[in-house]
Amino acid sequence: MVDSELEVAQEAARAGGEIVARYFRDGVVMRSKESYNLVSDADVESEQAIVDVIRRRFPGHAVLGEESHQADTSAEHLWVVDPLDGTNNFAHRIPQFAVSIAYCRAGRPVCGVVYNPVRDDWFIAARGKGATHNGRKLYVDEHARLAEVLVGVGFYYDRGAMMEATLAAIRDLFHEQIHGIRRFGAASLDLCQVADGMFGAFFEYELAPWDFAAGQLIVEESGGQVTTCRGEPLPLAKTSLLASNGKLHQAMLAIVRGHHL
Ligand code: IPD
Ligand code: CA
Ligand code: CA
Repeated sequence: MVDSELEVAQEAARAGGEIVARYFRDGVVMRSKESYNLVSDADVESEQAIVDVIRRRFPGHAVLGEESHQADTSAEHLWVVDPLDGTNNFAHRIPQFAVSIAYCRAGRPVCGVVYNPVRDDWFIAARGKGATHNGRKLYVDEHARLAEVLVGVGFYYDRGAMMEATLAAIRDLFHEQIHGIRRFGAASLDLCQVADGMFGAFFEYELAPWDFAAGQLIVEESGGQVTTCRGEPLPLAKTSLLASNGKLHQAMLAIVRGHHL
C-alpha cells in the first residue's frame, strides 16, 4: 500500500522538480508574499504539477500545499506539499532548495520525499523501512555532546522577538562549544542533514507542516528524534521544531526551550 504512495510521491516530486529546475536555469521574477517571504511562478506551477500527479492516482485524498491548496490536516489520507522549500536561496541563485512531499495517514507521515532537482538529490523514507539518500541508507550522527557537533538553525520570516530568541539560543549553543552553526535556508534539507549525520541537531522556532512533514519522517527513520522546541510531540500544524540524533535531544532542549516564546 505505502509502496504505491511512495511511487506517486516520487513521480510528483520529479514533476515539480523539473519546473523548479527550469525556472532556476532560465530565471524567474520573484514577488513578495509579505516582507522577506518571496514567491514566484516556479512555486505556484510546481505545486500544481505535484497536485495533478497526486490527484490522478488518489482523487479522494486531501492535499495541503503551501501556495494554493488547503486541507483539513486530520484527514485520513493527506498529502503535505512544499513545491519549493528554500525560496530565498532559489531567488539568489543558490542551489540549496527542494521539493518536499509527505503522505500522511491519520495525521502521521507514512512516507516522504525531499528532492533537490539541481543536485539530483533524493531523500526518501517510509515508516518502518528506513530512509535513504540516492539509495544509500541514512543514519544520524553518534555524538552525545554538543561540543562534538554542528547545529543547523532556521529563522522564520520574523525580524522581531522570534529572531531575537533564535539568536539568544545560538549564543547559548556557542557557550556549549559546538563546532559551529549552519543556516542553509531550506528546512526540509536541513532535516535531511540531521538524518545524514552532518548536523547533530537542527531547530527553528516556527515552521509549517509542508516544511517538515517529509523531513521529520526522514530523521525518525534514520534513528533521530523530532519534537517541538518544548519537547512535545510534533503536531501537523505551525510549530517550533527540534530535530536531533536523539542523544543530544535533552541538551538541545535545555537551551531551545528556555528561549521559546
Ligand atoms: C522556508 C525555509 C527556511 C525556513 C523558513 C521556511 P520557504 O521555507 O524552509 O529555511 O527558515 O522558516 O519558511 O518559504 O523557502 O518555502
Ligand atoms: Ca518551506
Ligand atoms: Ca515554499
